[in-house]
Order: sequence, then C-alpha cells, then structure tokens
Amino acid sequence: MSTISKPVAFIIGYGSNLGPAIARKFRSEGFNVAVSARTLDEKAAKEDGYLSIQADFGDIASVRNAFDRLESELGPAAAVVYNAYSSNNTSPSDPLANSYETFLNNVNVTGVNVYEVARRTKAGFEKLPAETPRAFIGTGNLTPWVHFHTLLGLSVGKRAMANIVEASARAYGPQGYRFYFAHEVKGSTGGPQPQPTGQAHADVFYRIWQQKEQGPWEVCFTETGALYDRAAGKVVA
Ligand SMILES: NC(=O)c1ccc[n+]([C@@H]2O[C@H](COP(=O)([O-])OP(=O)(O)OC[C@H]3O[C@@H](n4cnc5c(N)ncnc54)[C@H](OP(=O)(O)O)[C@@H]3O)[C@@H](O)[C@H]2O)c1
Repeated sequence: MSTISKPVAFIIGYGSNLGPAIARKFRSEGFNVAVSARTLDEKAAKEDGYLSIQADFGDIASVRNAFDRLESELGPAAAVVYNAYSSNNTSPSDPLANSYETFLNNVNVTGVNVYEVARRTKAGFEKLPAETPRAFIGTGNLTPWVHFHTLLGLSVGKRAMANIVEASARAYGPQGYRFYFAHEVKGSTGGPQPQPTGQAHADVFYRIWQQKEQGPWEVCFTETGALYDRAAGKVVA
C-alpha cells in the first residue's frame, strides 16, 4: 500500500489561501496528499496530483465518510491539517445577535467536530509503521487568548479546538501521536494576522510534522515562519 512508500497528508479546508500552500509543501516533501472542502475543483486538484474529497465538516456523517475515503484510497494519514472554519460576525454591542443555528455551525465547523477528526486521526496514527512521524495540526488564531468583539462563534470554536488539542497532546503526545494548535501573529506587534501567510504556515507545519517530541501544543509563529513567544512578546527563533 502507498503508506509503505509515501506518507499521506490530509489537508481539510482547502480554499484559496493556506490550503494550497500547505498541500504543495507536503507534496514537495514526498507525501501523497488529499484535500477536502465543500466545494473543490476536482480537475485542478487531480492535475496537482491530489486526491480531492468533497465533504462538509459541519456534518459528522460527512466527516466520517471523508476519513473512510481517505483510508480506502490512500491509507491513514501521518499528517492531518485542520484548516476549515466558519465565522459570522456580530456587532460589538450585540454579540448574541446571530441565531443559535448560525452560532452552532460556526462552533461545530471551527471546533467541536474537530473532536471526531482527532479521533479518526488518532485511529489512523495507530495503523502507521512505528518509524513514521505523525502529527495533527489545527490552524488556530489568537481567539483562545484574546477577546475579539465580533467573533463569538469563531472564538468558541477555536477554544474548543485548543482544548481538544491540549488534552490529546498531553495524553497521546508521549506515545508519538502529536497534536498542535498552530497560529500566525504579526512579528512586529504579536497581534492577529488578518491575511495569514501561506508559505509560513506550510514551512512551520512541515517542521512540526518532522519534530521528534511533542513539545508545546501551542505553536505561535510570524509571517517569516519564525517562532514567537506570546508571553515574552517577542520573536524567539
Ligand atoms: N492567524 C490569524 O490571525 C488568522 C487570521 C485569519 C484566518 N486564520 C485561520 O486560517 C484558516 C483558514 O484560512 P485560509 O486563508 O486558508 O481560508 P480559506 O482560503 O477561506 O480556506 C478555508 C477553507 O475552509 C473550507 N471550509 C469552510 N467550511 C467548511 C466545511 N463546513 N467543511 C469543509 N470545509 C470547509 C472552505 O471551503 P468551502 O467553503 O468550499 O467548504 C475553504 O476551503 C482558518 O482556520 C482561520 O481561522 C488565522
């Protein structure tokens, strides 16, 4: 099977920005790559050498089908990147303005359904050869630590993902099943990066995958791919 010769990367949330940069990086490092979103250009993905898996990660049956298809066509993934998110802004003066259904979709797509993604990821990790590095990397942002007035649904979702990642990293990281919440900040301010940088995500995510030990579950980096220490408020490497 392909997993013996090439590791598999599964990029969930393959849009116009981060997904393609991350997929290209893993492909260039010798991975078989599968990409997923609700809408995909299957022809273009095929030309790029990717398996395209159409799926709605807001729908748990669709999440499970996506992993079934991944495993039957390419095998279990050694790198799973969760980049999908859902956000409907509110006004700062009325954070409860969105309907429950809108809020719930934001939370499920961004975070809660990552619980099932993490379960399927770990089950896949257990099937890989002992020497294969393996990591789940969720694309994060500052919302677990900083209050953003208009982003309640996104923020609750990212906090859920951060919790799932932290618990999984603590429990399974020592066995080599590593979990990360990785996010970019502006190097000059440590603030949010409204247009996150594809190349920095790609380089940092591949570096994370190569790491031998779990290390911190939060990985904060800048637009150059340098690590950023949030507590100290400065670039560290
Ligand atoms: N560090 C920061 O300050 C910062 C700033 C902005 C964004 N971010 C984070 O960066 C990540 C994405 O950025 P990006 O620039 O790559 O965005 P993007 O190009 O819009 O990609 C997002 C992808 O998620 C997919 N998606 C959305 N809902 C989905 C669903 N229900 N099921 C499956 N796929 C779904 C979208 O495709 P479909 O719509 O076709 O499904 C799209 O492919 C997010 O996690 C976001 O929170 C971080």
